[in-house]
Amino acid sequence: MKTNHAYSIWPNRSTLAFSMIKTFGTSLFPVLFMILILFSNKSFSQVTNPKNKTNMNILNDKIQDLKFHELPYSYDALEPHFDKLTMEIHYSKHHKAYYDNLMSAMKDNPDSKSLSLIDLMKNISKYPTGVRNNGGGYFNHHLFWNIFSAKPQSLPQGDLKLAIEKEFGSFEDFKKEFETAAKTRFGSGWAWLSVDNNGKLFVSSTPNQDNPYMDIVEKQGIPIVGIDVWEHAYYLKFQNRRPEYVATFWNVIDWKKVEELYKKSK
Ligand SMILES: [Fe+2]
Repeated sequence: MKTNHAYSIWPNRSTLAFSMIKTFGTSLFPVLFMILILFSNKSFSQVTNPKNKTNMNILNDKIQDLKFHELPYSYDALEPHFDKLTMEIHYSKHHKAYYDNLMSAMKDNPDSKSLSLIDLMKNISKYPTGVRNNGGGYFNHHLFWNIFSAKPQSLPQGDLKLAIEKEFGSFEDFKKEFETAAKTRFGSGWAWLSVDNNGKLFVSSTPNQDNPYMDIVEKQGIPIVGIDVWEHAYYLKFQNRRPEYVATFWNVIDWKKVEELYKKSK
């Protein structure tokens, strides 16, 4: 996995290097350390910052290389629609647990070195329930965070707009179908807008942490919008009022990001 951005909890590399010289003088050790920091391609940021994976590039990452990616905005960025506390718990506890449990479940699996996330999901029926639940949970939440924005493009445009109108009649009709799928999913699960094998859009819902990539769903496709309807996604703010949470979802979804996923799906 490659990363481009240099965010990390570490200080700037130059600052760190010069700070070392100031502290230790010009003895050999700090000089070598400085060279290591300045010229190493395997920078600390590669370990501490998977921030730039704000899209679906993770799909081709090998299981053993998967990272717990940083949320692409602050916990309070989606206020007043999605509240800060829910976002913090949802991301740092629930999503993190799916990641940890997936890595733990696949730790000693020989497939972990060669199998990509997308191949795992497409062949999920061959794996234990724990891998299915946590692999889905890991991917689904990554998609979920990355279709939101504090200043979203509020409506689809261009090809996606046309495709939605072609399949559903209008954007409003699509919203109704999507909301119905989200509101009527019994228990915990997700509702999706996906692209099928023929490039057509469709709405579906899945239980638990399943998703349309998986070979166990009724209709497979490439998900480009997903809404988490587990109670942990909304209960603190909306309590049992799932329909209100689903209606609020439209305020934070960034259709520009969805359009990018739609283009890549084709
Ligand atoms: Fe969730």
